[in-house]
Amino acid sequence: MSDRPIQSSAPGKAILFGEHAVVYGQPAIAVPVLEVAARAVIVPAPTGAGLSLVATDLEERLRLKDAPPWEPLAFAVRHALRHLGEPEPDATIVIRSSIPIAGGLGSGAAVSAAIVRALASFLGHSLSREEVSRLVFEVEKIHHGTPSGIDNTVIAFEQPVYFVGRESARPELLSVGAPFTLLIVDSGRPSPTKRLVSRVRGDWHRDPDGLGALFRQIGAVVREARGHIESGDAGALGLLMDENHRLLIELGVSSPTLDRLVQVAKAAGASGAKLSGAGGGGCIVALIETDGSDAIKALRKAGAARVIQTTVE
Ligand code: PMV
Repeated sequence: MSDRPIQSSAPGKAILFGEHAVVYGQPAIAVPVLEVAARAVIVPAPTGAGLSLVATDLEERLRLKDAPPWEPLAFAVRHALRHLGEPEPDATIVIRSSIPIAGGLGSGAAVSAAIVRALASFLGHSLSREEVSRLVFEVEKIHHGTPSGIDNTVIAFEQPVYFVGRESARPELLSVGAPFTLLIVDSGRPSPTKRLVSRVRGDWHRDPDGLGALFRQIGAVVREARGHIESGDAGALGLLMDENHRLLIELGVSSPTLDRLVQVAKAAGASGAKLSGAGGGGCIVALIETDGSDAIKALRKAGAARVIQTTVE
């Protein structure tokens, strides 16, 4: 056990193509967003103190031994300790995150990844990226109900991924033929993933053929996008983003606010834009092939809470 503080972090993520359909076995593409991050600092505590968690942004403090079984932060710690074969250490974990909560940028998965990494280093273990991904996946089940596994994968690997279903043994890391630039636009309206995912599941039970056909169309867009990303033909991605957004509207997971941000981004020069993540609120993502400053200004004017510019490479 370390006698000094240890800090770990994990980035945010954005889904570029394929959200929702990925829960039903179609592929999806996601990229890490390194401009935002969750951080966990673990500090030794006096003998017998046990483990406490302090979530600074949520003004939450809890002791592991008092936390209910399904409290996500405590669950991440207990699950990691079990995996490492370690007893509860005397320590305090302080968590901070610049990733908007329930904004489609993977804040829950990033917080879990930062905790798991910090705890492992503090106890003298090193975890592979696969192990981090698997541990975080278990916590994601609390947040999401039936997660596809894409969030934990891209956040643990910190690389663009082409993801097919949670059973895929190893995620396929995407090689990016030429860097391209995205604007990630936070609508400022939180949208819990679990609600949207279960709404889509209800619709799918009522109309499996209709939704199955939509999911397959989304899957076809994702496969085509993969080819363009690998060959460095970012120009072709814009149209595919527009098409993916249209299909998500048909699926019923967009909102007037997200549609408006998509329109504003396009009118200000984005070559494609779509909602990103579960929808209902949260973020859109726009492809920028020239200087993004006009689009950023227009989006802020249209009410975006935050615009993050990131380059995928
Ligand atoms: O809202 P987010 O960013 O956590 O994205 C969820 C993505 C879904 O495809 C809707 C669900 C999933 O588990 O893949």
